[in-house]
Amino acid sequence: MKFLITGGAGFMGSNFIRYILNKYPEHEVVNLDKLTYAGNLENLKDVETNTRYEFVKGDIADEKVVDQVMQKGIDQIVNFAAETHVDRSIHGAKSFIMTDVFGTYNLLEAAKKYKTQKYIQVSTDEVFGSTEDGEFYEDTAFEPNSPYSASKAGGDHLVRAYWKTYDLPTVVTHSCNFYGPYQYPEKLIPLFVTNLIEGKKIPVYGDGQQVREWIFVPDYCRALDTVIQKGEIGEVYNIGSGYRKANLEITNIILGLMGQGNDMIEYVKDRPGHDKRYAVNSDKLRKLGWKPDVQFEQGIKDTVEWYKENELWWKRLKSGEYLDYYKKQYG
Ligand code: DAU
Repeated sequence: MKFLITGGAGFMGSNFIRYILNKYPEHEVVNLDKLTYAGNLENLKDVETNTRYEFVKGDIADEKVVDQVMQKGIDQIVNFAAETHVDRSIHGAKSFIMTDVFGTYNLLEAAKKYKTQKYIQVSTDEVFGSTEDGEFYEDTAFEPNSPYSASKAGGDHLVRAYWKTYDLPTVVTHSCNFYGPYQYPEKLIPLFVTNLIEGKKIPVYGDGQQVREWIFVPDYCRALDTVIQKGEIGEVYNIGSGYRKANLEITNIILGLMGQGNDMIEYVKDRPGHDKRYAVNSDKLRKLGWKPDVQFEQGIKDTVEWYKENELWWKRLKSGEYLDYYKKQYG
């Protein structure tokens, strides 16, 4: 089986590539990644010489590159490539629309042209908007509130349309918030941990009472694998851990693990359009035989340790050093 994994140099893509290569000795992976600020081949150093792995620098919004990659004999596409950070989308939505909507369209067209066995869309629970006290189900109506989630929703709608209109064999996943090693330190958990290591304050938006559901990356990889193996074509699956936490609760856990106090918190202006609460119902996925293995308390402890032990990695990433290096190497 030959996979095209797009966005494979990012946090989730790189973890998933490592998972696939380790778990399935017969599988091959082509990683198509644009190497934006969040993409980093350092995340895949341990697999770079694997003969079943190939890296191609390129943009999913570039039809020509996508076509060239498809000529390598791709069986299945897993689309991780996306602009993902809500705050960045608030400052400028164009790159989100180009990658998350137009890029998805390009991949769908390629999957149609090359009669790909399966197209898996990696998406988010944010497309459902916010829920006060309920849960998002697979058929909950989309109500995206940020340019990011609207872009992902646009891509997801296209995936559905290609299934309905052209019988393209698609599967869509909506996941809750990820955390773990190799996450770019702009997201809540790695930003707070790295700030604290550097002696900087940690910016809590608004009152910090917003709730997110958190999944540890190895549990996520197994969940996505389950969907790829057992999910039905044309179906949608939610991926959720059940660990629902207010931002302030997470902040206090991190402060405790790092031996620091509440004085490090800085309450800052709230994110515009900030969703209050996400909670995904993942019964449909659990019926396929998956459940999370790692408790939140353990996952966050391991994550904090990883960031403490890998200072060089995130310091180089934050300073843009890798980006300059890749520009020289790949243009
Ligand atoms: O729900 C899945 C989504 O989770 C993914 O689709 C997105 O790509 C991913 O970025 C994430 O979105 P969030 O907005 O939930 O993640 P973020 O880490 O940016 O923020 C988590 C919560 O923490 C959110 O309520 C905003 C808050 N926050 C975040 C940052 C970066 C703060 O209070 N301070 C901060 O500095």
